[in-house]
Amino acid sequence: MTILVTGGAGFIGSHLVPRLLDAGHAVRILDTLSPQIHGQIPEGLDWLRETPGLEFIRGSVADRETLEKAVDGVEAIVHLASETGTGQSMYEISRYCHENVQGTAELCQVLAASKGHGVKRVLLSSSRSVYGEGAYLRPSDQARVTPSARTAAALRARQWEPVCPETGEALELVPTREDDRTAPSSIYAATKLMQEDLLRITCDSMGIGYGILRLQNVYGEGQSLKNPYTGILSIFSTKIRRGLELPIYEDGLESRDFVHVSDVVAAFAKALATPEPVNGIVNVGYGQATSVLDVAASLSRAFGAEPNTRITGEYRLGDIRHNAADVTRLQTLLGHTPEVNLDTGLSRFAAWVGTQALPEDQLEKAKAELVQKGLMG
Ligand SMILES: NC(=O)c1ccc[n+]([C@@H]2O[C@H](COP(=O)([O-])OP(=O)(O)OC[C@H]3O[C@@H](n4cnc5c(N)ncnc54)[C@H](O)[C@@H]3O)[C@@H](O)[C@H]2O)c1
Repeated sequence: MTILVTGGAGFIGSHLVPRLLDAGHAVRILDTLSPQIHGQIPEGLDWLRETPGLEFIRGSVADRETLEKAVDGVEAIVHLASETGTGQSMYEISRYCHENVQGTAELCQVLAASKGHGVKRVLLSSSRSVYGEGAYLRPSDQARVTPSARTAAALRARQWEPVCPETGEALELVPTREDDRTAPSSIYAATKLMQEDLLRITCDSMGIGYGILRLQNVYGEGQSLKNPYTGILSIFSTKIRRGLELPIYEDGLESRDFVHVSDVVAAFAKALATPEPVNGIVNVGYGQATSVLDVAASLSRAFGAEPNTRITGEYRLGDIRHNAADVTRLQTLLGHTPEVNLDTGLSRFAAWVGTQALPEDQLEKAKAELVQKGLMG
């Protein structure tokens, strides 16, 4: 079939598109080639014009006319196009809403205006950020609770761990399930939740199959090394290569579920191929929380360097504390069990980074913007 991949020139798209082509599909990419991700003069993108079976359209999903052309004749859509910086979203609110929400609204509009255009299935790359803090157990009675975002006052007081909103007691992290409460704590997360609602409602009403994949922290070969607004492992890798100290926010025990891009791509490919569409939400993660301090040390070792970390006690408003996905639905509905463990994935990532030009260390620039806006303490 012919598949449109919006944002297909980005990190995840650049792995997904070859996989779809290998499976015998024709692929069309619609991508702006955003300078923040690809640089002012996009590099390394010859494959977009040279790969047989691949058609590339440069343009935005928020531009109706371009989008109409891009959707014409396709049977499936994988909607990856988004702005992705959590911190940046907190002060570039209008841009994030335009690209992520309006862009998705245009996609829904194009589908609705022409009775689906023959599109049978739409997949959305959503984000675990829609859960906010996600799920915990309350030790006193083993109740499952989903605490609200940590307040600015709590962060200022260095109270890093979320507490039970009812009893105030300390909580125990458990893997977050798809039916747990959504509670976005950043503008980025709010736009991803809105994308989900727009697509779910449009597809439901038009009888188009859909799947919403909530991705955890995706990493791997090909991720942007130029974008200082997202991608903790990219940012750390540049610092490691430059022999610089790795600044670790909060107390370093904040955690993320790091999932290798090959597992994410497998999930998308499987969600396109199931006989019946999922018509629901699936977490895509490795299913394990790793602290930022541990991942910094493991990544350093993957580069053959001794960990050079410094816990700074700084924090960013909008950041969550912990994250681990329940991947039961990934296994049962899509038949995928995550394959690449963190050590293997980090070795592959470090080996690839070593083949790339050494970028500027731009973390301080991104950080200064947050500090200036009062979004970092
Ligand atoms: N990488 C992660 O850790 C992660 C985690 C959760 C969710 N996601 C989601 O996965 C998707 C892809 O992420 P990625 O890591 O590949 O990001 P990326 O930034 O590498 O790629 C995004 C691509 O979208 C393009 N783009 C941006 N705005 C566009 C627009 N309006 N129209 C067309 N193209 C546009 C960019 O030029 C870029 O090529 C995003 O929707 C993101 O929210 C990613």
